[in-house]
Amino acid sequence: MERIDKILALHNYGSRKEVGGLIRSGAVTVNGAPVKKPDLKIDPERDEVRVSGERAVLRRRVVLMMHKPAGVLSATRDGKGETVLDLLPPELYRRGLFPAGRLDKDTTGLLILTDDGDLAHRMLAPKSHVYKLYEARLDKPASPEDAEAFARGLQAGELECLPAELTFTGDPLTVRVRVREGKFHQVKRMFHAVGKEVTALKRLSIGKLQLDPLLAPGEARLLTAAEEALIFE
Ligand code: URA
Repeated sequence: MERIDKILALHNYGSRKEVGGLIRSGAVTVNGAPVKKPDLKIDPERDEVRVSGERAVLRRRVVLMMHKPAGVLSATRDGKGETVLDLLPPELYRRGLFPAGRLDKDTTGLLILTDDGDLAHRMLAPKSHVYKLYEARLDKPASPEDAEAFARGLQAGELECLPAELTFTGDPLTVRVRVREGKFHQVKRMFHAVGKEVTALKRLSIGKLQLDPLLAPGEARLLTAAEEALIFE
């Protein structure tokens, strides 16, 4: 059970304060009856909530897409610096959210934040075969031999890498890599193993889910159920 003001704020009906005003004004009904108390506890997926007569589709769990900017940690709040959770506006923030898979502090791009541990597990387990696509800027051009080494599955120091796909763009210093693992500094270590250094790294997609080009760095939004399914396609 969740407070109705909290759950409505989470679903972008306004800040907690604005939602409180909405509730007190009588615009919100639960199972047909007007509610006046912002702290009323409801079951967001069972109770029928209407705002100004419109059915509100509410979820118990939250899955967000963020465009992670450089310079923030993919961690929950820990006092060691700004984290991706600090970037969330109050209406999207909720206790229990965590980044499903980490990007390095200087890595940018698609990051999923959720409070659903099962979803995170399914996304991250190598046996789920969820591929992540990165765009890497390198200090030297990658070669076709590098692509072959990536495809075979290379040994990056102690890290034994599963086969990965390296593709070229029009720019000799910019390449794309598709990997299905997410070990610490995975992509940077793979390039290091073939004598190149990554100077910038951006995650473009997870499975078939692409970073929304309308999200500016630092912005986040709720993921739709259809988008969530794209992760596993
Ligand atoms: N690989 C890296 O090296 N860093 C990331 O942030 C993600 C993948």
